[in-house]
Order: sequence, then structure tokens, then C-alpha cells
Amino acid sequence: METFRHVENRPLELAVVVPVLNEHDNVGPLLEKLSIALAGIEFEVIFVDDGSGDGTPERVEAIAATDRRVRLLRRIGRRGLSSAVVEGFLSTVAQVVAVIDGDLQHDETVLPGLYRAIAEDGYELAVGTRYAEGGGTGDWDRARERISRLATRLAAPVTKTLLSDPMSGFFAAKRAVVLEAASDLSSVGYKILLDLVASHPRRLTLKEVPYEFRSRTAGESKLDSAVALEYFELLLDKLVGRFVPVKFLMFGAVGALGLLVHLCVLGVALNAAGLGFAAAQTLAVLTAMTFNYALNNAFTYRDRRLSGFAWWRGLASFALVCSAGAAANVGVAGFVFGEQGADWWLAGALGALVGAIWNYAVTSWLTWSR
Ligand code: GDD
Ligand code: MN
Repeated sequence: METFRHVENRPLELAVVVPVLNEHDNVGPLLEKLSIALAGIEFEVIFVDDGSGDGTPERVEAIAATDRRVRLLRRIGRRGLSSAVVEGFLSTVAQVVAVIDGDLQHDETVLPGLYRAIAEDGYELAVGTRYAEGGGTGDWDRARERISRLATRLAAPVTKTLLSDPMSGFFAAKRAVVLEAASDLSSVGYKILLDLVASHPRRLTLKEVPYEFRSRTAGESKLDSAVALEYFELLLDKLVGRFVPVKFLMFGAVGALGLLVHLCVLGVALNAAGLGFAAAQTLAVLTAMTFNYALNNAFTYRDRRLSGFAWWRGLASFALVCSAGAAANVGVAGFVFGEQGADWWLAGALGALVGAIWNYAVTSWLTWSR
């Protein structure tokens, strides 16, 4: 049997993970800045690409072919900043891991400080923060700054710790800490730091290092209005996810809105359009059902969103499942009211709950199957 003969290099000290989505023009400049900033540290840079169409992975490949400090992790048919970063962390053997944006907005000269806080001072986590003496949000307008501060406050009960910038996407950690939290990570959205701190069983020792957020010079931000929603989803998941699936809560909230839509349509059809009750109620049911479907498709199941022909097929299956749910609702309510002699409101609520659980469970499996 032949034994594997390995070459001895200096041990790897730091892995810098760079999530990238269409950052072609930033790859070269970033690597140049990193290799200056990290002089003296044995590091590797891991680009995690989610199918960029602008030649980003090819650009990384071209450099990585001759520079062993550079690696490329390609994910196909996947999206998501958090999960990209986690998978980057899991792909290295370096004892210290760090993450930095691929668009030059994070100040790479702060990286050695983050690294040393962990490797030399023994902290478990070192975070680049915009909200401490010496840090800043660059050219952000007042509105975005205020929203960011509000979101920061909302995170406190979840993180149980004093992160001045829980939304920061710029930090370093002991790799062991990531491994300890890995199985409990939600990995939704883009708040990987928050997820990590909230998922870890222990309160982590933390050092904060201020930096000034730079403005983007090439490419554009990938974070749109949906990120606010993802943020609340992550917070909710951390707070109650152990007891109730967050998607069920969203499904329920959409259902409550649907009830409002139902009543509005019913009122207008009866009073303004002069329809008979049965016709008006039918119209209201169809409208509310379509409304619920469209909203769930856009928000609750945005990660499995249906479009084109599949949208219509989804609507049909949603309507079918919910019709059965309505029948179960009426059946249960009638049984509890008639046979058990319960109060009308209790019977009604129980029927609605059973219907909602049925609708949620079956549509998540049938309409929005993975
Ligand atoms: N692989 C991968 N997959 N990379 C992604 C994805 C994705 O789905 N979405 C974004 N990226 C990459 C971008 O290419 C960029 O390198 C980095 O992640 C940050 O994305 P931006 O789109 O530039 O985000 P931003 O500048 O609005 O937000 C930054 O600042 C926030 C602070 O408010 C990020 O650093 C956030 O993490 C940070 O919270
Ligand atoms: Mn950015």
C-alpha cells in the first residue's frame, strides 16, 4: 500500500470567507487589499459564489489557479448570504475564521485586529462594528440609519448579549464556536452573526472593533426590501421557532388578512353590487383564496416561489386543499358545538384552528413542495 506523502507548509492560521454574488470587478482589488492587510498571517481566502452570471467565479478561478491562498466554493441553484458564509466556514481547517463582504465596503485593515483578538487575546468572537467610537455608517441616509438602529434594538432579547452592531457582516470567530452552533443555525436570510450568537449554547466572549462602512464603487447591493422580512423571520425563529414553525405564524397572519379581504368583498358585493348572498359569499371566498395564495407565495414561501404555469397549478392545488380544510373546519365546529355543547365562539375557533393547521400542513407539502 502506498502511503500519502504530504508537504509541510507553515500551518494555516486564518480563513477569510468572502460571499460573492456578481462582484466581478471587485475580486481583484479585494485580493490585493487583503494580501497587503494580512501580511505576516498565514491565510486563505474562500470565495463562496451562488451562481453569479457576470463571470465572478471565472475571475476567482483564474487567480486561484496560481495562488494557493485563494479558493472557490461554488453553490449551484442556491441563494442566501448566511448559508453561503456558514458553508465557507465549514470548508476550512483554519482555527480562526472571518467573513468580509466582497464589495470593498468593509475596511480590510481592521481584519488583523479581529484575527489577533481571537488568536492572541483568546476571544471567541471579534466583530467589526459601525456603532462604536471610531466607527460609522459612511454615506447612509438618516432613514436607513434609523431603521438599522431600530433593528439593532429588536435583536437584544434574541442575542442576550451586548452586540452594538448585531447586523454586522464583518467579523471573526474561533472555528470551534461555529462548529458548536452549526446544528442549531437557522441559516435564513443574511444575518449570520446574529444567528451564530443566538444559536450558540453559551454566551460568547466578545471583542468589538470599530470601522467605517465604505460606499460601494462597483456592482450593486443584493439586499432588497425582502431583507427586512427575513430579519423578522430570523428573530421570530430564534424566539419561538422551537415551539411553532415561523412559517405557520406567517401563514396564519396571511389568513387573518384574507378574512378582512373576504369581508370587504362580501360587503361590497351585497350592498354596492346588489348580488344575492350565496353569489356574494362565493365571490368573496374565491377572492380571499386567491389573495391568500398570492401572498403566501410571495412572502411565506418566497424561498420556493412559484411562477409562470406553476403559479396557476399552485393556485388550483391551494384551492383544493383549502376547500377540504373548510369542510374539516365546519365539521369540527359542528361536532364541538352540537355534540359537546360547547360555546359557539369556542366551537368556531376550534374549527378554524383545525382548518388552518390542515391548510398549512397540506399546502406546504403539496402546493409548495421542495
Ligand atoms: N454567495 C452569496 N449569496 N453572496 C451574496 C448573496 C448571496 O445570496 N447576497 C449577497 N452576497 C454578497 C455580495 O456579493 C457582497 O459581497 C456581500 O454578500 C454583501 O452583500 P451586499 O448586497 O453588498 O449587502 P449590503 O452592502 O447591503 O449589506 C452589508 O452590510 C450590512 C450591514 O448593514 C452586508 O455586509 C451585510 O451582511 C451587513 O449586515
Ligand atoms: Mn455591500
